[in-house]
Amino acid sequence: MSETNDKGRRSFLAAVSTGWALFTAASVAGLGMCVRFLFPNDTFEPATKFKVGYPADFAASNEGVVDKRYKTRGIWIVRTLDGFFVLSTVCTHLGCTPNWLEAEKKFKCPCHGSGFYSSGINFEGPAPRPLERFKVSLAADGQLEIDKGKKYQQEKGQWDDPESFLKMEYSV
Ligand code: FES
Repeated sequence: MSETNDKGRRSFLAAVSTGWALFTAASVAGLGMCVRFLFPNDTFEPATKFKVGYPADFAASNEGVVDKRYKTRGIWIVRTLDGFFVLSTVCTHLGCTPNWLEAEKKFKCPCHGSGFYSSGINFEGPAPRPLERFKVSLAADGQLEIDKGKKYQQEKGQWDDPESFLKMEYSV
C-alpha cells in the first residue's frame, strides 16, 4: 500500500471518529435536555401562600366588610370588628364564582342562584354547604398572609380552628 493511500485512510478514519464523537456528544446532550424537560424545577403552580397587605388597609363592620381585591386569586377577605377570615370564591354547588352584591349584602352565584351571607353561610339556592375558608395569619412583617393550601369547612366544624380566623379587634 502506498504512503499516500495510508495517509488518506488514516485521515478518513479520523474524520469518521470525530463525526461519531460529535454525534455521541450531541445525543447525550439532547437526552439530558429531554430528562430535564420531564423533571422541571418549577411546577408553574401559583403560590398557595401570599400576602395581601396590612390590617389597617381593610375596613370593618359588625357583619363583616367584604374585600374583593383578591377575587382573581380565588379569595374574598372579610373584616369584622373582631378580626379576619378568608372565603373561597368557589361556589359549593358546582364550582361557579359568585359575586358579592354590596346592596343586598350577599354573595350570589350567577349559575343556579345560590346565595351566601358575608360569613359564607349558604341560605338560598342549591348550594349544599357554606363557602370554604382558608388559613389567615399575620406574617413577620405585619401583613396578612393567606394560605390556600389550608382550607376549613363549616359543616365539619373546622371554622372553630383558630387558624381559620385571625382575631384582631378593629380600632379606628
Ligand atoms: S354553581 Fe353556584 S349555584 Fe350552581
